[in-house]
Amino acid sequence: VRDGNGVKGIVDSGISTVPPAYIQPPAEQIDKKNASICDMPPIDLSKLGGPDHDEVVNQIVGAAETLGFFQVINHGVPVELLESLKQTAHNFFGLPAERKAVYRKEVSPSPLVNYGTSFLPEKERALEWKDYISMTYTNDIEALQQWPVECRDDALQYLKTSHELVRKLITALLGNLEVELDDSNIDTFIEKKTVNMNFYPTCPNPELTVGVGRHSDIGTLTVLLQDGIGGLYVKVPEEVDTEKRGEWVEIPPIPGALVINIGDTLQILSNGRYKSAEHRVRTTSTKSRVSIPLFAGPEPTQKIAPLPQAVKKDGAARYREFVMLDYIKSFFENPHDGKKTLEFVKLNSA
Ligand code: SIN
Ligand code: FE2
Repeated sequence: VRDGNGVKGIVDSGISTVPPAYIQPPAEQIDKKNASICDMPPIDLSKLGGPDHDEVVNQIVGAAETLGFFQVINHGVPVELLESLKQTAHNFFGLPAERKAVYRKEVSPSPLVNYGTSFLPEKERALEWKDYISMTYTNDIEALQQWPVECRDDALQYLKTSHELVRKLITALLGNLEVELDDSNIDTFIEKKTVNMNFYPTCPNPELTVGVGRHSDIGTLTVLLQDGIGGLYVKVPEEVDTEKRGEWVEIPPIPGALVINIGDTLQILSNGRYKSAEHRVRTTSTKSRVSIPLFAGPEPTQKIAPLPQAVKKDGAARYREFVMLDYIKSFFENPHDGKKTLEFVKLNSA
């Protein structure tokens, strides 16, 4: 694990079964047969601002209130950039080990860049079958100086070209809660951005491992580019009125589309109305998979609490106020375990 080439290094060394450290407890193993495919059609964002505007807003709100995951097309991020990002991710993880290992947390020349494997190897019962590079954004100059030269141009383009998309979605979702919006209060919730590139090497025993264990994202919104391999599963929230509640559904790859998911921060801001759904990733034996999430959330110094407009509708706040940094720490200091982080800010009335 610590040879600097992550899971990719293990696979490249030639193995016919997974090392025991990667075997998940039975409850976490993913049985493909028990999951259906999410059949929600992608939402066409080019219709925002046109005659079907309200209908599109309703689709966004409806998806956020039920699964907390949906896909969008005509999202404004150039489709050629999406292709390039996937290739760039493959190229980066294909680099010699020593070129990637310089970005390991312990030695990285930049606090903004972090290359690693699994999620929290020191604390996990079983390791995740994944390598990643994480790039946090502060400003263009630092990104261009500090992000790996192999990824920085595409990652920065992705960040820039998705900004309007994120703003539109937040505008639709918070507007629906009757929050009065201006540029600065929208930006408060999406100011801090990080782009990750995830690499899931082929796995000889997909039924025993996970690419990523059950978790929900902690920020406001995640924009996720996945390739054509598949393997992203979302748990239909228990509190949603459908016979599928509690079941895992796969978010199918749709060429040119982006996956959007609601994070804990937006669930909290909306006082529980929008769902930050648990999700996880299965591995595959035939082809390596890449995914490229962009996380948008508040600055770490920001105080977060349910928005007054949402609380007023419900009569009581379901979550207490907290400082984002404490939430981030709590998430990154504990192995993936469903929606555990959210539990700490829940109020009894919830
Ligand atoms: C994640 O949610 O951590 C990764 C999602 C994916 O790879 O599809
Ligand atoms: Fe996630």
